[in-house]
Amino acid sequence: QIVPIILCGGTGTRLWPMSRSQSPKQFHKVDGPASLTFFQTTVQRHRGLSYGDPVVVTAAAHLPAVRRQLAELQCPAEIIAEPVARNTGPAVLAAALEVAARDPEALMMVLPSDHVINGNMDEVVQRAIGPAMDERIVMLGIKPLYPETGYGYICDGGAYTTHPGLRRVAHFIEKPPYDEALGLMSTGTAFWASGISLFSAATIIEEFKRLDRRTYEAVELAVGNGERREGELHLNADAFRRAENEPTERIVFEKTERVALLPAALDWNDVGSWTSIHGVGKADAQGNVFHGDVISTETNNALVRSEERLVALVGVPDVIVIDTPDALLVTQRGRCQDVKTVVDLLRKEE
Ligand code: GDD
Ligand code: MG
Repeated sequence: QIVPIILCGGTGTRLWPMSRSQSPKQFHKVDGPASLTFFQTTVQRHRGLSYGDPVVVTAAAHLPAVRRQLAELQCPAEIIAEPVARNTGPAVLAAALEVAARDPEALMMVLPSDHVINGNMDEVVQRAIGPAMDERIVMLGIKPLYPETGYGYICDGGAYTTHPGLRRVAHFIEKPPYDEALGLMSTGTAFWASGISLFSAATIIEEFKRLDRRTYEAVELAVGNGERREGELHLNADAFRRAENEPTERIVFEKTERVALLPAALDWNDVGSWTSIHGVGKADAQGNVFHGDVISTETNNALVRSEERLVALVGVPDVIVIDTPDALLVTQRGRCQDVKTVVDLLRKEE
């Protein structure tokens, strides 16, 4: 059985004002009131015979949301709470140490909780199991569509004869600058890192230990001296603070030779901006995606999310309106990457 490791400690600033530091994107509904949240969708996608109970790693501040949303799904889980944010590297290592305490050979599947995925994930997972048991770190790669600077890139290094479908990794580059991303795209052999990876607990622990001893020791102590109550592990703050504040990609994936690429034909969307939320939403005949109480005339390709009030649009194509009880965002489709500038300005004012 594979142990799903669900990462949900991020802040998601480009989706302001829906995503706040106290209530980030992963705990909001994917499309409207009736559906599950991003986090719940991730949990549900990996339930069933091939999977054990998930390990959920999150910020201590998000515990109430995590507990409530797991209870709604009636999903038993082990929760690891981080006293301070140290990015995904230390979070993955803490989960690996927990999993290894039960069975070092257990396979873990790391899952970001901020994506929308459609397609046959089971088939991809089945192909990843063999190489992961063989001490490989298998990363799911997606055919890139444009030179996104917010993703990791996996450069194809040729076929493995031992595992059909599996590719060697020439390099792994986390979040390259635009020119480099463009260059990688033009090679035609680079893949986007989906953020989803599969490996054994023992393999990833060994790599952390070898590549960043200080972080390894800090996280080991944070787990060992952590407080355990009711299925939750609260990591020790003094120890965890000493871990490097870096993603797994930088601590391990960029440096290790154990990484392997599994190209996955999935409909994968990071949904990191309002434009991409519009792209995955259910559009009406005019291309409008509306959540909440909305009326419109002579408007197309608009996105509206209104939590309380009635919103009326008259002749404003491509507009994006996000209305929450204490903040209103009005912008245009395609301009959404700049939303994080507003958040930076607000932070400065605080
Ligand atoms: N527990 C925990 N603690 N989770 C975290 C933390 C943390 O400190 N920081 C982020 N996360 C969670 C987020 O909530 C999200 O679900 C996931 O980890 C990935 O973090 P992001 O901050 O969204 O990463 P990213 O999107 O910039 O980059 C990652 O995903 C890309 C694809 O979307 C990387 O894996 C890239 O290589 C990849 O291309
Ligand atoms: Mg992300």
